[in-house]
Amino acid sequence: MADIMSTVLVTCPLTPEEQQRLQASCDVRLVPGSPRPLAREVFLKHVRGVHGLIVMPPDRVDAELLDAAGPQLKVVGTISVGLEHIDLEECRRRSILVGYTPGVLTTAVAELTVALLLMTIRHLQDGQFIGANRLGIGTLLSQRMREDIYDCRSTLGALWSLGSAWKRPTVAERRRNQRQCSGHRGAGQDRPRCRHSPESLSTCAHRLLQQQHRKAGADLVGAELVSWEELLSQSDIVIATCSMKGTQNYNLFNAATFARMRSSSIFINVTRGALVDQEALLSALTSGQIAAAGLDVTNPEPLPTDHPLLQLPNVTVLPHLGSATRRARTTMSHVTVNNVLAGLQGQMLPSPAP
Ligand code: DGY
Repeated sequence: MADIMSTVLVTCPLTPEEQQRLQASCDVRLVPGSPRPLAREVFLKHVRGVHGLIVMPPDRVDAELLDAAGPQLKVVGTISVGLEHIDLEECRRRSILVGYTPGVLTTAVAELTVALLLMTIRHLQDGQFIGANRLGIGTLLSQRMREDIYDCRSTLGALWSLGSAWKRPTVAERRRNQRQCSGHRGAGQDRPRCRHSPESLSTCAHRLLQQQHRKAGADLVGAELVSWEELLSQSDIVIATCSMKGTQNYNLFNAATFARMRSSSIFINVTRGALVDQEALLSALTSGQIAAAGLDVTNPEPLPTDHPLLQLPNVTVLPHLGSATRRARTTMSHVTVNNVLAGLQGQMLPSPAP
């Protein structure tokens, strides 16, 4: 049991079971009403004097926040695999433990990626509008039509994250299975070509291990390792699934990147909006430099309702639903509470940040 006097601030929803488990051991302080994203001044006000902190992106945990919390803070648990909102170096300097939830949402995000890809390629959101307004299929047929993925033998280029690079099932593997389920069995030439760029993978911690895993991850799904240049210029569909690596991947997709892509390319982003220079994306989409985009993540989230990206007919925007399955969110809550309880007891975290 954690010290009964420990106070934990929770800024985001936990499952009721995990909230109860936390409450059995600590004094739990919930941010009132918890509107998301949390206003900074509310966060700074409620963090004072806590021993543990449970957050999720984009709640920024930096020196200012840690100062506001005070020196008794022992542990921060984020309900996410992304860590870009936490100043890990500053936490380390202050001996504050940080836990996160790697691996447990990979499947949910892979499924969302396939769904978003299909929505984007087939204009499904338009179909929903047309159906709801009883306009009939002719309206859709007279508007935009896209290629079948089934026939187009498209090349899928994915920038895999550290976590999901070598874990099954990946987006590429799911897409392959999907084709096999649709009757595309056997003949090697029917399989989409999967390209996998090493450029976005970690070059810092655990470098050798990840390099081995990169190759293993590519082999696992029948992907070829190619350069960044090749990935952009040869892919019909480019999927950003890499992490921000702190701020290193900020605007990784920019005007120069989109210029290298094909005019028929579809761009999908399921990890972080800040990977993309949104002005450059907007101009690539309006000028026809690329064909369409499907975004589960934007910068900021949510986008203002009058944001020009939301007005474009060739863009599908979802509200960061990648991990929104019962299994993923339940496991994420569970892992986070385990991390925080361990940290409060001065133990090693079961799932420490790298
Ligand atoms: C993550 O875990 O980082 C997902 O993007 C949900 O925030």
